[in-house]
Amino acid sequence: MSQKIQTLSGYFHEYQKSIHQPEQFWSRIANSFHWKKPWDKVLSWDFKGPDIKWFENAKLNLTENIFERHLFTHSEKTAIIWEPNDPNEAERKISYRELFELTCQFSNALEAEGVQKGDRVIIYMPMIPEAAIAMLACARIGAVHSVVFAGFSSNALADRIEDCKAKMVLTSDGNFRGAKDIEVKAVVDQALESTNCVEKVIVCKRTETPVDMKAGRDLWWHEVIEGKATSHTAAILDAEDLLFILYTSGSTGKPKGVVHTTAGYMVYTHYSFTNVFQYEQNDVYWCTADVGWITGHSYIVYGPLLAGATTVMFEGVPTYPNPGRFWEIVDKYKVNQFYTAPTAIRALQAYGLEPLEGYSLDSLKVIGSVGEPINEEAWHWYHDHIGKGKCPLVDTWWQTETGGIMISPLAGITPNKPAHASLPLPGVQPIIVDTDGNELKGNNVEGNLCIKYPWPSMLRTTYGDHKRCKETYFSTYPGLYFTGDGAKRDHDGYLRILGRVDDVINVSGHRMGTAEVENAINEHPKVIESAVVGYPHDIKGQGIYAYVICDMEGRTEEGLIEEIKDTVRKIIGPIAKPDEVQIVPGLPKTRSGKIMRRILRKVASNDISNLGDTSTLLNPEVVDQIIEGAKH
Ligand code: PRX
Repeated sequence: MSQKIQTLSGYFHEYQKSIHQPEQFWSRIANSFHWKKPWDKVLSWDFKGPDIKWFENAKLNLTENIFERHLFTHSEKTAIIWEPNDPNEAERKISYRELFELTCQFSNALEAEGVQKGDRVIIYMPMIPEAAIAMLACARIGAVHSVVFAGFSSNALADRIEDCKAKMVLTSDGNFRGAKDIEVKAVVDQALESTNCVEKVIVCKRTETPVDMKAGRDLWWHEVIEGKATSHTAAILDAEDLLFILYTSGSTGKPKGVVHTTAGYMVYTHYSFTNVFQYEQNDVYWCTADVGWITGHSYIVYGPLLAGATTVMFEGVPTYPNPGRFWEIVDKYKVNQFYTAPTAIRALQAYGLEPLEGYSLDSLKVIGSVGEPINEEAWHWYHDHIGKGKCPLVDTWWQTETGGIMISPLAGITPNKPAHASLPLPGVQPIIVDTDGNELKGNNVEGNLCIKYPWPSMLRTTYGDHKRCKETYFSTYPGLYFTGDGAKRDHDGYLRILGRVDDVINVSGHRMGTAEVENAINEHPKVIESAVVGYPHDIKGQGIYAYVICDMEGRTEEGLIEEIKDTVRKIIGPIAKPDEVQIVPGLPKTRSGKIMRRILRKVASNDISNLGDTSTLLNPEVVDQIIEGAKH
């Protein structure tokens, strides 16, 4: 498919076309897919509702665009290279034909177990090929998958199961991660104690950890696929049928289920994958994310497979059994495009250059970054030592809600500028606004990042609560999609993302709502009130700092701090565990009772030289006490 931009002038040309004639632009891109019925209208939209439809009334099946469309040209090509956690265990290479058959077989199994079009299926699995097969099988039969990162606690899992009223959970016995064997099925069992919508659980064997199998509910993956046909007639779906729900944290309340639909997501993930990474047909591409996050959905599974790429899926962690593991894998499979998060780069940078010794990394053509702002030091280390100064570095800005990469250099085409996501992809119309929503035109401006026109893979709603979608994304600046990020357009017109401007913190590239962490802390019986903020962290980008008012009776401070951390780990998962907990006598509040987070952020960042005006506080004396406490 010749959707690939080849030159910088080609990019500007395509961009202009995509802005001035968006419908013609996207219909040309979409024409190369396989449709059961063409669309009546490319786009109808209204950001007030919001109400967004792409490729209206078209009929298709996304998996046919991965498999049937390509079977005659690359059925024997490797689709997935799976690298296990333990380097001594054999890898798996799955061809497109095999992946097709495995997907069909599991589609038949899901249908035999009663899953129908529109049913929600939770996938709580480690990074094994079956996780991708599960997603594809859902897409094949028209079930809506919702992948939950297998590091989330049973509580967090139960919330998600309950919110989408899942009928089935797909899981595994356990999960090998680094030196640890993590329980998986046991977490599902616990989550299901507090929910009653799930009818069946299918368990894939990975670790041979003994698990309880509840009669009538729990089934083994290898048993349900036994004897099932390896062909399956794909369900014919509407362009706007739900493809998946993915839960993500916001600044208020519980995580919300971001909804993505079939056709627009398909078109955009394929288009963005091909162009940003400049993928060529014999390349080996590797994204180190987990399928539990949007990066794994769009750029391990859907985008690469739609493009007929060979995609590497890695079960383990960057530092196991040693901090050279990523580079060993790059050399082993001769990876051409490598896509990871700044937090991984910073963690590996901390080991120095020794772990790189013995690895050539010669195969690399493109390196990428995603999930959080990449600081210049990490950018240069990555560019110089991994990309050897010759690989373009694509700093890709996007979100769970955007479905695909929105602002990024196109590898080798857009000139690189450290720490700049640079320019929007064709079809993406970002603008910077001031706090009143006025557009800041021209260069050398800084403000809040919004998008003013729809793109095919944008979220359509938040599951079961359309009002929340409207309030979160479309109400701050009426008529615009608000990203929650701050951004700057520099003197060359290049965009630099400055990070979140709301109460969301980005810990190791994972989004955490401060309210969500506070709610978890407040579950501890000794906690009276808490306030959580982010602070700069060398490796994680941001760390979690919790100020907590407690009833200390019968507890030591140290003991209580550990108990509080443990409470968060149990309620949300290890990724949300606060790095710092400070027990405080009070929290700085305005006269209307609002916590002054600005002050708490400054104290947590050890930036107390200019705290601003504290005289309007209800309890100004508490600020000094907090500063004093922070010193310890
Ligand atoms: O703050 C931005 C940051 O990650 C947020 C989105 O998080 P999530 O939905 O979990 O998706 C992460 C993977 C796409 C954004 O609002 N972010 C993501 N990419 C970048 C980034 N910040 C700066 N530069 C990036 N390249």
